[in-house]
Amino acid sequence: MSSSVNMEDIISLAKRRGFIYPGSDVYGGLRGTWDYGPLGVALKRNIMNLWWQHFVDGRDDMYGVDAAILMNQKVWQASGHVDTFVDPLCEDTVNHRRFRTDHILKDNGVDAEGMTMEQMDAAIAEHGIKSPDGNPLSASRTFNMMFTTHVGPTSDDASISYLRPETAQGIFTNFKNVVDSFYPDLPFGIAQQGKAFRNEISPRDFIFRSREFEQMEIEYFVHPEKWEEAFEELLASTHEFLVRLGLKPEHIHELDVPEADRAHYSKKTIDIEYDFPIGKEELMGIAYRTDFDLGNIQRVSSKSMEYTVKGTNEKFVPHVIEPSFGVERALMAVLSNAYREDEVNGEKRIYLALPEHLAPVRYAVSPLLKNKPELVEKAREVYRALKQKYGNVSWDDNGNIGKRYRRQDEIGTPHVVVIDFETIEGGGTVTVRERDTTEQRRVSIAELLG
Ligand code: GAP
Repeated sequence: MSSSVNMEDIISLAKRRGFIYPGSDVYGGLRGTWDYGPLGVALKRNIMNLWWQHFVDGRDDMYGVDAAILMNQKVWQASGHVDTFVDPLCEDTVNHRRFRTDHILKDNGVDAEGMTMEQMDAAIAEHGIKSPDGNPLSASRTFNMMFTTHVGPTSDDASISYLRPETAQGIFTNFKNVVDSFYPDLPFGIAQQGKAFRNEISPRDFIFRSREFEQMEIEYFVHPEKWEEAFEELLASTHEFLVRLGLKPEHIHELDVPEADRAHYSKKTIDIEYDFPIGKEELMGIAYRTDFDLGNIQRVSSKSMEYTVKGTNEKFVPHVIEPSFGVERALMAVLSNAYREDEVNGEKRIYLALPEHLAPVRYAVSPLLKNKPELVEKAREVYRALKQKYGNVSWDDNGNIGKRYRRQDEIGTPHVVVIDFETIEGGGTVTVRERDTTEQRRVSIAELLG
């Protein structure tokens, strides 16, 4: 099932109103990259801060880190990414355009979930599938999605590094540091937010599949025999977070990912899927990574990753539950969930019914007429007071009041405060116009600032 919202409408609003622009647009773009404008940054920050509040500050078993993006190449050798972080790639045999084989199958109505590369090639042959340009396709090969770079002035094998494809490894490599500095009791988690990079063969669907994106990840360290209860607890907490994003439970689905489709490190994965405008797709995932990562670090670095239970001699390498969120996908879910069209006074209206705690602008303050100094002065006073209280308050005196309402509706501002003659003629009240209902209430300034 997909939501009734059209993706093109969201992309157009995002660009028009300063949320998200195509990356390097002025030079013709760079596929799979996106730039955040002033409102996009604000919305993204609100989502990320809410996540941090929910999973880190709101609990007493979480520690935050912010690790370097560039890491020693051994990290990615030990983690298995150098060998196995691959997607199946096929090529148009005439014009040499390249495609992700499972995407080509999906676009032709064949579900490739669980298929090996050979099975995908067989399905392409069986269904007579051609490239989008109508040419035969080559047999598939694997393509590693990590961006390679060199650290330092020499470009040899020893200087190879990668732009991290997940933030998780920066957590695992700091496991021992956090244990040694904070002596946490098990179970405990380490959380990180930050950029991740993947050289996706076919970035698509707006910010859903980008080459540069942001993740919010937790590695939750547990006793090997207690992973199931931690998994259930973090799954439940994830659902609570999605409700705090304003997403509707009926649009959220759990998929118990079959073994053939799980990442190389996972013994169990539940994907949370969401009814995006592009269809039901992965929003985030929770994986049981066993002791795969700490075990690999211990083997390759020859440093012990064992945890000793306090007051005992019991020692083991902890197992890990990993809730992994993509910020862009959370943002796309929030935007498509909020997008609304209705009719006001016979005119089509577009608005974003964003939850108040996520809206980039919480209040806009407007003098009814901008050429009346007494209105402007009073409005500035109210604006400054509201801004001091909430921070994300904006001044809007552009165009007539109807235009201001439309603009604020489109960016999801829940309340517009209008200062009119009644405000200064001793009433001390302002009009507060509500985004979702378009209702206007007269409220005293004291109550507004309460
Ligand atoms: N550390 C585990 C990990 O990275 P993943 O399923 O590959 O797992 C986690 O990625 C999340 O990151 C996904 O559920 C998705 O939200 C986001 N994500 C992954 N690739 C992405 C891409 N190319 N563009 C945007 N978000 C992406």
